[in-house]
Formats: sequence, structure tokens, C-alpha cells
Amino acid sequence: MGSFSSLALLPLISFLLLQCYASAQHTLGTGSSLSVEDHARPFLVSPDATFSCGFLQAGDNAFYFSIWFTATKNKTAVWSANPGYPVNGRLSRVSFSRDGELALADANGTTVWDTKIGGNRQLTVSLNDTGNLVITDQSTGHALWQSFHWPTDTLLPSQAMSKDTKLVAGYYTFYYDNDNVLRLLYDGPEIASIYWPDPDLGIWGSGRTNYNSSRFGILNNAGAFRSSDGLRFQASDLGSPGVKRRLTIDKDGNLRLYSLVNATGVWTVTWVALQKPCSVHGLCGKNALCEYQPSLRCSCAPGYEMADRRDWRKGCKPTFSLPAYTAINCSQGVPEEYTFVKVAYTDFYGYDLAFNKSVTFESCMNICLQMCSCAAFSYRMDGVGNCFPKGVLFNGYTSSFFPGSIYLKVPSKVNASALPLVAAKGLACKPNGTSPAVVPGYADMYGRPGSGPKWAYFFSFAAVLGFLELLIFAAGWWFLSSHHSIPSSLQAGYRLVMATQFRRFSYQELKNATGNFKEELGRGGSGVVYRGVLDEGTVVAVKKLTDVQVQGEEEFWAEVAVFGRINHINLVRIWGFCSEGNHRMLVYEYVENESLDRHLFGTHIIGRSLSWAERFRVALGAARGLAYLHHECLEWVIHCDVKPENILLTRDLDAKIADFGLAKLSGRDAAASDGVQLSHMRGTTGYMAPEWALGQPVDAKVDVYSYGIVLLEIVIGTRISDQTTADGEERLEMGQIAQALKQVVASGDIGSLVDTRLNGQFHPRQAMEMVKISLSCMEERSSRPTMDDISKALTACDDEDEHPAYVS
Ligand SMILES: *[C@@H]1O[C@H](CO)[C@@H](O)[C@H](O)[C@H]1NC(C)=O
Ligand SMILES: *[C@@H]1O[C@H](CO)[C@@H](O)[C@H](O)[C@H]1NC(C)=O
Ligand SMILES: *[C@@H]1O[C@H](CO)[C@@H](O)[C@H](O)[C@H]1NC(C)=O
Ligand SMILES: *[C@@H]1O[C@H](CO)[C@@H](O)[C@H](O)[C@H]1NC(C)=O
Ligand SMILES: *[C@@H]1O[C@H](CO)[C@@H](O)[C@H](O)[C@H]1NC(C)=O
Ligand SMILES: *[C@@H]1O[C@H](CO)[C@@H](O)[C@H](O)[C@H]1NC(C)=O
Ligand SMILES: *[C@@H]1O[C@H](CO)[C@@H](O)[C@H](O)[C@H]1NC(C)=O
Ligand SMILES: *[C@@H]1O[C@H](CO)[C@@H](O)[C@H](O)[C@H]1NC(C)=O
Ligand SMILES: *[C@@H]1O[C@H](CO)[C@@H](O)[C@H](O)[C@H]1NC(C)=O
Ligand SMILES: *[C@@H]1O[C@H](CO)[C@@H](O)[C@H](O)[C@H]1NC(C)=O
Ligand SMILES: *[C@@H]1O[C@H](CO)[C@@H](O)[C@H](O)[C@H]1NC(C)=O
Repeated sequence: MGSFSSLALLPLISFLLLQCYASAQHTLGTGSSLSVEDHARPFLVSPDATFSCGFLQAGDNAFYFSIWFTATKNKTAVWSANPGYPVNGRLSRVSFSRDGELALADANGTTVWDTKIGGNRQLTVSLNDTGNLVITDQSTGHALWQSFHWPTDTLLPSQAMSKDTKLVAGYYTFYYDNDNVLRLLYDGPEIASIYWPDPDLGIWGSGRTNYNSSRFGILNNAGAFRSSDGLRFQASDLGSPGVKRRLTIDKDGNLRLYSLVNATGVWTVTWVALQKPCSVHGLCGKNALCEYQPSLRCSCAPGYEMADRRDWRKGCKPTFSLPAYTAINCSQGVPEEYTFVKVAYTDFYGYDLAFNKSVTFESCMNICLQMCSCAAFSYRMDGVGNCFPKGVLFNGYTSSFFPGSIYLKVPSKVNASALPLVAAKGLACKPNGTSPAVVPGYADMYGRPGSGPKWAYFFSFAAVLGFLELLIFAAGWWFLSSHHSIPSSLQAGYRLVMATQFRRFSYQELKNATGNFKEELGRGGSGVVYRGVLDEGTVVAVKKLTDVQVQGEEEFWAEVAVFGRINHINLVRIWGFCSEGNHRMLVYEYVENESLDRHLFGTHIIGRSLSWAERFRVALGAARGLAYLHHECLEWVIHCDVKPENILLTRDLDAKIADFGLAKLSGRDAAASDGVQLSHMRGTTGYMAPEWALGQPVDAKVDVYSYGIVLLEIVIGTRISDQTTADGEERLEMGQIAQALKQVVASGDIGSLVDTRLNGQFHPRQAMEMVKISLSCMEERSSRPTMDDISKALTACDDEDEHPAYVS
């Protein structure tokens, strides 16, 4: 055909093309094909036009053969024939051959992908309204091949997850593991590990089961996902009719459920697997840290720099020459002096060379020094002192909630003060480190009327300083004094998980364990607590719930399984539950030393009253526990009954908050916008925020108010909540109390307020900070700080976090 006639035919061809598009096919017979040059035209369109199938441009000259949502702004692909292997923008072609094989060929004729079926001229290929591309045998009506069986990174409603399917995005996979549990896996070039469900919680602790081997999961049209392993979740817009959804594993390793907003063609997230994106493994690479500031950010550990400026996954390399970590050199006892650099609130997940429980900080350091392959150790002051020497540093993350620090081993000859970050030393409220930049903002809080609280400013500043705090431990002599080495090859082991099995108990079992509910530990609004001993000898507290609305066993189990997942050292652990007939019981960890009120108030005092350091630690622990409930939980939990009776103390006098989760659980978004209307009252007079007493909707700020009262009681050692002054005569309104406190703060005479039983043995700066926080908690709702702010501010005042003996 000559060039002239081609030109003449052009308008006609475009017309035909338009026609074609307008009445796009949803079923094609054998012999059809589409070349990439015609990518403006879809290969197939589903009957209701929701989905299109054809060539989707991914780069200048790169195309995928895909299925996408027709109405989305940026043509969101839900399936691709050739993920990761784009074809050329010229001469590539998809064809449904004469014998019924659907195949994609690249420019040079290579087959990039095909359906591997064929040999039958009776076949058709069609795009279903569900987004399923199906090859059907017309003679039998059977589907011989369907794209739903070969998902890429997305699952559509009515498309099943099975033992043979998985969603993949880069190094991340969502799949049924060998033990029948749906998981998220990072399988990178250097390491591989499961990061969801939380490996620390175990299968049961995550509300899953491995008993059902059918391995079947499905997202229904209403937006609810159900899986045979017990995983259930649902879209926040559950049930809205006609909403288009997709469940996608994104490039950042998180699994998200999306809903399409009709008007704009843009997706919104209606559920997400990991609330804390840093819990995804492999994001920042080796020797790097993942932080929230406030969005996700990678940074190198002190003394390390990015290995490849363009790619965080390549991690960081040391700026100093690596010490001889080899077993050979170590066994020869080559004297290498080491220093430890502390990075607070930080951990590297996995790759523990050992796990030494109940050891002192010094012995933990010693263990790391004696292991050639130890690159750092993690030390957690969670009561017993847990020590984890680490061989390699992967999956690092920093969070103000992490109850420990990592200590990096660097050769002493490295000038530690030249390491990045070390220059920014010091804390917001340390006796000798007060930064002038902090003080003015802080003083403004009470000083300038009408200027509004400066909490946000102050706390974010304190948090940054807190993180930057690095202490150097000149500890080379430990190595010299004890160089009988333990050669230990670098083994990639996972953290030894103390199995936390959340389980169901039978009524008989609990009756037996409590000796027929003999020893009563306490009673409250929600039920009576008994002491019990399980078969394996574990002492537990069994709470018989009296005030449960009639709830089916299934429903109760679903609700309680959420609490079973909550795991924080400052929250009382739930080991299990019983739901039989009309018995509803919860099995808690046993906390030895009774509740805070017994230690603080009047006649019930057990032995001596708490020392200042103990009080501060209780205040900090309670703040961290509540902050975890409010901000870091899988589900968003308001306690609704914070009071000294619900703060239990361990043998070491660490705080553990009890009875959380008995109030209604609430969706994060709903609560953030309008507050939540609780169906029945739970709070205790005296600790209850005014807006609640007035019947207004409540949010997490009610806990902040109650915490403020408790904090003040910790300082002054008497109940404020019965509205009496310290000398117990004159009845005062909360407003008057606040007024009086402000005067004390202004005068700086904090000593007049502190519990006289301490005989002046207290830390004035901490006390002042606590009173100021307490005051701010009593403000009206919007002016109160969050528990997160409070926990950071108290942490910044916590002197205990140092090991002064080792400061160089
Ligand atoms: C669509 O893609 C463009 C370019 O890739 C991007 O800038 C834009 O944010 C995307 N829009 C949406 C709604 O995703
Ligand atoms: C065709 O091109 C692809 C990539 O463009 C290449 O990997 C493949 O080797 C080529 N095949 C032949 C036969 O040239
Ligand atoms: C195609 O979709 C219809 C409903 O839209 C459904 O009944 C049918 O089973 C689907 N076919 C396949 C093979 O998915
Ligand atoms: C296993 O899971 C499937 C699919 O969710 C369900 O239909 C079946 O009842 C479950 N079996 C048991 C024993 O729970
Ligand atoms: C969105 O559009 C679909 C059809 O295009 C319709 O069925 C559905 O009701 C719409 N949803 C909303 C929320 O408007
Ligand atoms: C062992 O130490 C010596 C110095 O004592 C050093 O020269 C050598 O490179 C080291 N070996 C290895 C494998 O690092
Ligand atoms: C630490 O634990 C390892 C095994 O996990 C053990 O071999 C070693 O002896 C322990 N060290 C100390 C000092 O307890
Ligand atoms: C260490 O580094 C700091 C800052 O870079 C420098 O001021 C100091 O002189 C160095 N000390 C030694 C001993 O090199
Ligand atoms: C801070 O410490 C230095 C010595 O370490 C001391 O000279 C100075 O007086 C201290 N400052 C305050 C405000 O305590
Ligand atoms: C009850 O406790 C006894 C020991 O006190 C034990 O031998 C028995 O097996 C328990 N029974 C049940 C049902 O747990
Ligand atoms: C409770 O705490 C006190 C300190 O107030 C301590 O002496 C005592 O041993 C603790 N009791 C128990 C049972 O742990």
C-alpha cells in the first residue's frame, strides 16, 4: 500500500478505532490480537466498563499487559501479565492465537508471557465484571485459565487467596505460610524474615490459628476480609454499596485496603496491616534506622554512612575501618579496644547471637566484648535486664516507646565525638544540660496569657534532643581484662521469642486453678479478681466479669483477641479468656505488689511509702502504657478509667496498667474527628474529665485528664479526687486546685507541695515538671497534651536512663 493511500485512510482508521473503543469488546475469539502501538485502545473492557485490559504505559518505552480500573485517574493496575518485565513500546504484541493461547511477545519476537493452554479453537477470552480475565471453553463452558488464579500485587473482591496464590511487591510477599497462617514476608538479597503478624506475639497472640488447613481467604463486596486462619478485618467504609475496592501489597511492604472515591477517581486507604510502617522489615537496610519524624525516614546509625546515596535498601557502611571481627583473630586475643555508642529507644530486630536474661548492664557489655562477632548489644531495662548481643544490624527502628537502647561497638581509636549526631548532646530538663533554646518556649506555657500552650513545640524539641542523646562508654579494658574468647560464628538467628500464647480456658480449668474462686484479690465495677495457679505453675489473676452485656461466645472471643495482641511492659498482659454458658472471664498476668493507691494513700500503706525515684518511674511507666494504648496499638484504645486502683505495681515497683480494653474500642478515624459516644459510663468520679461528666462525646483526652490527677496524687501523696486539700478540711473545686497549683509553679516553691513523707528527698526539677504536666492535663480538652507528648516529656527528665559511671 502506497503512502498516499495510507494518508487518505487515516481519518477512516481513527474513526474505526473510536468506534472500537466506544463499543469495546468484552469477549474475543481466537485469532484476535493487539499491538502496543494501539495502546490507547483497550484489548477488552468488562461488560459494566469497570475494568479494562490492554497495554499500560509504565515508562518512556515500557509497557505492561494489564487489567486496570477504567475510572481511576492514574489507571491503577490490578493485574499484570509481565510484572517487573516491561515490553518495548514498539512492535510488542499480545495475541490470542488460533489455537487459543494468550501470549505477550516483546519487540524481538520473544514470548514474555503466555497462558500455557491451547490446542482448542473453541476458546474465548473475556474480561469479567469482577476484573477477572477468563479463557473459557465454549463447548463445555469451563474456565480453563483465569487471571484471578495468578494475582500480582492486588486482590479484588470475590478473588480468593489460596495455598497457591500470593501477592508480591518487590521483596515483599503476602501468602499462606506452611503453617496455614497468612503472613507478610520480606525476602531480600541479604535477609529474609516474617514481619506480620507480629512475630513477638506468636500465632495465637495475634488472634490467628494454624489448625484450619483449608487456606482460604476472601474479600467480599461489602469490604470485609475473612481468612481460614482467623484473620478478619474490614474497610472503614464497610458496606457502602457500589464502592470499588482492592487489597494491595504496596512497595513499602505494607498491606492496604483501598476504596475508590467516585468523584475524583482517587483511592483512599480504608484499612492497613501495619500501623507502624517501621515494623516492615528491610526498609532501611543494614546498619540503618527507621524513624517517624513524623513520617517514615531512614538514617544511618552513628558512625555509619549511606552505602549507596540513591538506595536506602543498600543500608549503611561504617565510616571507621571495621575491627577484626573474625573468629581467628579473636581467639588469638588481638587486643582491640572498644567503645560503645548508645542510641536510645532503638532496636535492631533479629540476628541475636544470644539472649541473656536477668543480667546487669555491665555483664551484657562484657558478653558483647567477648564475642568477636558481636557488633552491638541491645539492653532492655524492662524489669529483669534483657541482653541481646547482635551479629548484624538489620531492621533498625527508633520509637519513643521502645523500652531499651542499642549500644554500638566501635573501636576506641575512632574519635567518638566526631561521629555524626554526637555533637548534639544533652537533654531538655537535666540539671546541667538545660538548653537555652528550650527554656523560653517552656516558660511561655504559663507566662504569656492568651498565647496558647506551646506543648507541641516543646515536646518535639525535647524528643529530638532525647533521640540525639548519645553516651560514650569507654570500655576497652573489659576486653583486655578478660580475653578468653568465645568464638562464635555469625549466625543469622531470630530473636528468641518468649512464647506468649493467648488462649481459651475452660470454666472447669479456671475453677480448678483458683481453688473454686477462693482467694479474692480485689473487686471493682467490672468484676471480681481471684488469684489462680495454672497447671504449669504460673500464677495468674482471673477476673470474673459481672458487667458484660449478653454477648455471643464468638463475639466475645473476637473482642478479647484484640487485647491479647496488646503487649507492652507497662500494660497488664492478658493470657486468655473463658467464655462458656454465661461465664465470661479474663485471665491476666499476676502482678505482685498490688495497686498504686495502696502504696500512696492513708491507712492501706504497705510497708513504707514509695520513694521519689519509684514514684517517678511509676508515673513514667503509666504514661508510656497509656501512650501505647492511644497511639501505637493495632486498634485504638481509650482506657476510660485511669486511677491509682488501675495502676498495678510489679515486684520491682514498675507500673502496669490494668483493666484497659473494657471500655468500648473505637476506630481511630471516627474518634479523631468527632469523638466517641460511650454507651455506658465507666469512669470514676474525681478522675473523670468535665466534658465526660457533662455527657459530651469523649476521646483519648479523658484519659489524659485522669492521668493528670493521678500524676498530681503521686507528687503530693494524697487523694485529690475526693476534693479535699492536703490537710483534709476545706473542700475545693478543681478550678481552685488548679489556681493554687499555678501559684506554686509561678513561685517555684515546689517543696511545699511534695508528699511530706519523703522528708524532702525528691527531685525538684522532676516534681516541677510533673506538676506542670498535671496542670496542662486539667485544661480544656483541646489544650491538653497527648499521652505521647507526656511520655516524651517525662522521659526527657528521666535521669535513670544514664549510666553516669561510664560517661567519658
Ligand atoms: C498520578 O500520577 C502522577 C504522575 O505519575 C502523579 O504526580 C499524581 O500524583 C498521580 N495522581 C494520583 C491521584 O495518584
Ligand atoms: C529480546 O529482548 C529481550 C529484552 O528486550 C532480551 O532479554 C532477549 O534476550 C531478546 N531475545 C532475543 C532472541 O533477542
Ligand atoms: C463472571 O462474573 C459473573 C458475575 O459477574 C460470575 O457469575 C461468573 O462466575 C464469573 N465468571 C468467572 C469465570 O469468574
Ligand atoms: C476452615 O476455614 C474455612 C474457610 O474459612 C471454613 O469454611 C471452615 O469452616 C473452617 N473449618 C474449621 C474446622 O473451622
Ligand atoms: C460510585 O459509582 C458506582 C457506579 O459507577 C455506583 O454504583 C456507586 O453507587 C457510586 N458510589 C458512590 C458512593 O457514589
Ligand atoms: C587479624 O589481625 C591482624 C592483625 O593482628 C590483621 O593483619 C589481619 O588482617 C586480621 N585478619 C582478618 C581476617 O581480619
Ligand atoms: C549468655 O547466653 C548464652 C546462650 O544464650 C550462654 O552461652 C552464655 O553463657 C550466657 N552468658 C552469660 C554471661 O550469662
Ligand atoms: C575528635 O573530633 C572532634 C570534632 O570533630 C575534634 O574537635 C577533636 O579534636 C577530635 N579529638 C581527637 C582526639 O582527635
Ligand atoms: C555543670 O557542670 C559543670 C562541671 O561539670 C559545673 O562547673 C557547672 O557549675 C554545672 N552547671 C550547673 C548549672 O550546675
Ligand atoms: C485440677 O487440679 C489438679 C491438681 O490440683 C489436677 O491434677 C487436675 O488435673 C486438674 N483438673 C483439671 C480439669 O484441670
Ligand atoms: C512490694 O513493694 C515493697 C516496697 O514497697 C517491697 O519491699 C516488697 O517486697 C514488695 N512485695 C512483693 C510481694 O513483691
